[in-house]
Amino acid sequence: MRILLFGKNGQLGWELCQTLAPLGEVIAYDFPEVDLSVEESLIHIVRRLRPEVIVNAAAYTAVDRAESEVERAFAVNARAPGLMAQEAQALGAALVHYSTDYVFDGRKGSPYIETDAPNPLGVYGRSKLEGERAVEQACRAYITLRTSWVYSLRGDSFVAKVLQWSRQQPTLRVVDDQLGSPTWAHTLADATARLVAMGGKDMFGWLRERGGLYHLAGDGFASRFEWAQAILRYDPRREEQVTRQILPAHTLDFPTPAQRPLFSALDCTKFGDAFGFRLPAWEEALGLAMGAG
Ligand SMILES: NC(=O)c1ccc[n+]([C@@H]2O[C@H](COP(=O)([O-])OP(=O)(O)OC[C@H]3O[C@@H](n4cnc5c(N)ncnc54)[C@H](OP(=O)(O)O)[C@@H]3O)[C@@H](O)[C@H]2O)c1
Repeated sequence: MRILLFGKNGQLGWELCQTLAPLGEVIAYDFPEVDLSVEESLIHIVRRLRPEVIVNAAAYTAVDRAESEVERAFAVNARAPGLMAQEAQALGAALVHYSTDYVFDGRKGSPYIETDAPNPLGVYGRSKLEGERAVEQACRAYITLRTSWVYSLRGDSFVAKVLQWSRQQPTLRVVDDQLGSPTWAHTLADATARLVAMGGKDMFGWLRERGGLYHLAGDGFASRFEWAQAILRYDPRREEQVTRQILPAHTLDFPTPAQRPLFSALDCTKFGDAFGFRLPAWEEALGLAMGAG
C-alpha cells in the first residue's frame, strides 16, 4: 500500500512516520519541501505519486499567530485539505484528516459529540472547520478525526513547556478554567495505523462505508492546571525541578490574541462504537509518554 503523508515533522506526523511504516510504502513530506498553501505543488505531488491513502497531519497550528495570518491559516487548514480530498476522490484514494476541538465555543459544559453545532472563537478554529467541510464535500472515502490538546515530548507542546518552566520557576501559575482532553500524539498515530490496517487493501471501499467525522482524543478531560500537576508528578527527572508550588490562575490573567474555548472536551463514543477501540485515559497515556521519554 502506498501512503502519502503530509506534516511528517509535526508532533503527530512524526509519530505517524513510525506507526504507518509497517503497513506499506510511506512517502512523507513537510514544509518547506512542500508548501501546502501552493495549490500546484500539492496537486503535482498527489498526481505523480498516486497513493492509495493520503494522511494529512499538516496544519497551521499557531492559534495566536493565525489571528494576523488569516490568509495562510485558511490556505493550509481549509483549501489544502479540500484539494487533497478532490485529488483523492479522482484517484480512488482514501483520505485521513485531522481537526480540532477549537471548532467549538466551549459553552456546552459537557463533552462535545459530533452533531453538536460548531462555533469557533478564532481564525484557527474557523479555518479548521472550513477544512472539515471541504473534505466532506469533495470526497466519499475519508475520515476526519477531531482531536484535542495534542502533545508530544518532542517540540513545543504544553508538556514540554511545563517541564521547561519547572526547571526555571519556583512558582508556576497555570489556568484552571480551560478544560480539554489531552491527547498523546503517539496514541493518535497508533489509532490511525490501526484504522489503515483494518481498511487493508480496500481502504477506499472500507472508509466509504464507515468514514465520516469522528471525535478521537485522550479519554476523559482535565483542566490545564490538573494536566500541569500530572506532568510534574510523572516527570522522570523530578530532581531537576525547581518548582515548589503550582497555583491555579484564570485565562483572563494571561491575555492572548486568540480566544480559546473554556470547555472543549470531546466525547469519543461514536468512534469507539464504530471501530471497537478508544484512546487510553489521558492520565495513563501521559504516564506512558513520560516514561517513554
Ligand atoms: N496541537 C494541538 O494541540 C492540536 C489540537 C487539536 C487538533 N490538532 C490537529 O491535529 C493535527 C496535528 O497537529 P500537530 O500538533 O501534530 O501539529 P504540528 O506539530 O504543528 O505539525 C503540523 C505540521 O504541518 C506543517 N505545515 C504547516 N504549514 C505548512 C505548509 N504550508 N505546507 C506544508 N506543511 C505545513 C508544519 O510545519 P512547520 O512547523 O514548518 O510550520 C508542521 O510540521 C492538525 O490537524 C491539528 O490541527 C492539534
